Amino acid sequence: MRLIRTENYAEMSLEAGKIIVEKIRTNPSLTLGLATGSTPKGLYDYLIQDHEQNGTTYKQVKSVNLDEYIGLQTQNPNSYHYFMRQNLFNHLDISENHTHIPNGSARDLEQECLRYEQLIRELGGVDLQILGIGQNGHIGFNEPGTSFSSRTHIVTLAENTREANSRFFNSLEEVPTHAITMGIASILGSKEILLLVSGEKKAEALLKFMNGEISEDFPASALKHHENVTVIADRDALKYI
Ligand code: F6R
Repeated sequence: MRLIRTENYAEMSLEAGKIIVEKIRTNPSLTLGLATGSTPKGLYDYLIQDHEQNGTTYKQVKSVNLDEYIGLQTQNPNSYHYFMRQNLFNHLDISENHTHIPNGSARDLEQECLRYEQLIRELGGVDLQILGIGQNGHIGFNEPGTSFSSRTHIVTLAENTREANSRFFNSLEEVPTHAITMGIASILGSKEILLLVSGEKKAEALLKFMNGEISEDFPASALKHHENVTVIADRDALKYI
């Protein structure tokens, strides 16, 4: 595992952005694994700026998102479909049918999980997966206790995850209780992983990740089984390391 120490959120985003742009330039038909939330926003801003200024093209790039809430339509501003359009896809030349996000409104959700796994296989797997981490160590929406052999599945969100994410909603009640997420084994199937960690709120989780044991009680610890993980963290997140 490689650790890149950065001063702050902006520098973390810049370092991650430079790695991704370099990968796309060497492999223009890269399959990118994408995350939502506050962590990758600065990275997405960097990719947009680079696309506008340096012309990096995403015409052949494919993307696969980690997760989506169940029960929110794709037009709902809190859905991850909406987030990705607003914060990235609408500003790049990526073609819409190359972008993939689990469908949390599918009629048959079990079938949707199977479809998504099949899709990832058909794409030849994810080349580079971007991850954030939850304060409880979740990756994607794989909450503590999730099997390391899990594939795309339906999850009940932990109460502390719903509380953490309620900042985007009008109230806690509005935060969905369930989601579809790529499983731990699906994530570990990526050829390379970039884990971004920023802010003091994540300092304990990062400490546990770096120094704790590998256990299903702390989902991110599964990443230690992967041979190509780069952690990019800022000074606040690295407070205890
Ligand atoms: C989002 C995702 C989550 C987030 C995590 C951190 O697609 O999979 O695991 O990465 O909840 O969220 P933020 O970045 O908002 O702190």
